[in-house]
Amino acid sequence: MKMLPSLCLALLATTAAAAGADAPWHALPTTTPSPAANPGTPAKVELGRMLFHDKRLSESGTVSCATCHALSEGGAGHKPTSAGVHGEPGGRNAPTVWNVGFLTSYYWDGRAASLEDQVRSQLHNPIDMGMRDAAYVAARIRSIPGYLPYFERAFGGADAVSEANVARAIAAFERTLVTPDTPYDHYVAGDKAALSEQQLRGMAAFRADGCSRCHQGPAFDGPALAAGTVFTMKFPTNVRSPFVATYSLVNDLGRIEWTGKEQDRYQWRVPSLRNLKYTAPYMHNGLVPTLADAVRVMGSTELSKTFTDAEVADLVSFLEALSGPLPAVPAPTLP
Ligand code: HEC
Ligand code: HEC
Repeated sequence: MKMLPSLCLALLATTAAAAGADAPWHALPTTTPSPAANPGTPAKVELGRMLFHDKRLSESGTVSCATCHALSEGGAGHKPTSAGVHGEPGGRNAPTVWNVGFLTSYYWDGRAASLEDQVRSQLHNPIDMGMRDAAYVAARIRSIPGYLPYFERAFGGADAVSEANVARAIAAFERTLVTPDTPYDHYVAGDKAALSEQQLRGMAAFRADGCSRCHQGPAFDGPALAAGTVFTMKFPTNVRSPFVATYSLVNDLGRIEWTGKEQDRYQWRVPSLRNLKYTAPYMHNGLVPTLADAVRVMGSTELSKTFTDAEVADLVSFLEALSGPLPAVPAPTLP
């Protein structure tokens, strides 16, 4: 369900006009939407927090979701790629799970349409968690009798233990991971002292330079879209950028690897820009080490602009204002 970039840009123009030219900034809501098929409940969220931290959800019992997405450390991988269940690294950087409930598609190429689908595909991924199929996941959970009461409380019924319910519980937990307490959100809510002068310069530049053509909305991941819809852009657009070689930006072909469609070559989902302070290194391959480098790369590859050091510093200070304190998520006691 890919939208053509031109269509997206037309949509952007309409959205911006509707919002009023001076009001392109949106605070992050404090709660995320849940799909009708999987409303969040305290019992589900508690179970999901357990499963998220349980290494027995991987074939060898050595990695949990939290291994690659440590919540207190930004929820993302801090090496370019992370080693999975058999110690083998995957091909892309682990993005943060904070605020994923606001996104409408998942993975760098947007190939998963819901958090529930995302969990299942990651469990089955031979490099990440290596759990053969749905029956294998359910059998693993059944081998831990202490889980049964938690599944019954969350889902009721006789067949409470299933892979679908594992995915529902983890997704419900992930939808509670929000960080609305940032200087940017305070500013947008009316506290004009929340941003420094430099951050305000960066904010104006973010818009004037064209970053917000792609990165907009509360999560800075693009226009408001229905769940399951992806907003992709070509990256790199300017293939003559020197950074293409420096950071190996064309080795991974992007969304075409998944769809097989020529129009998806080098198309990547426009990612959220929240909590970047905690999630270095950057880009799908994790080869861009600092936020300043990421800003230079974006300027050069997406806007054909070379920023001065002062311009980079302003943009970085604005992006840092999109990072908030990470709420503490206590490690669960596992059954
Ligand atoms: C071995 C490391 C590893 C493990 C274990 C792992 N992940 Fe991931 N995760 C990744 C990587 C790498 C990606 C990006 C892959 C891609 O885009 O192709 C990712 C992507 C995601 C995304 C998409 C985020 C976005 O911005 O689109 C979510 C959500 C997520 N993982 C949650 C989980 C959950 C829940 C589990 C446990 C069931 C889990 N991960 C286990 C490495 C890992
Ligand atoms: C034409 C659309 C477009 C424009 C304009 C654009 N970006 Fe991006 N941005 C993207 C895409 C697509 C990616 C994902 C790249 C990838 O998959 O590696 C991205 C990635 C990023 C990242 C890395 C995020 C991460 O988690 O690693 C940062 C930071 C960023 N952009 C900031 C900016 C800034 C600042 C500007 C303006 C100077 C800007 N972008 C302009 C489309 C755009």
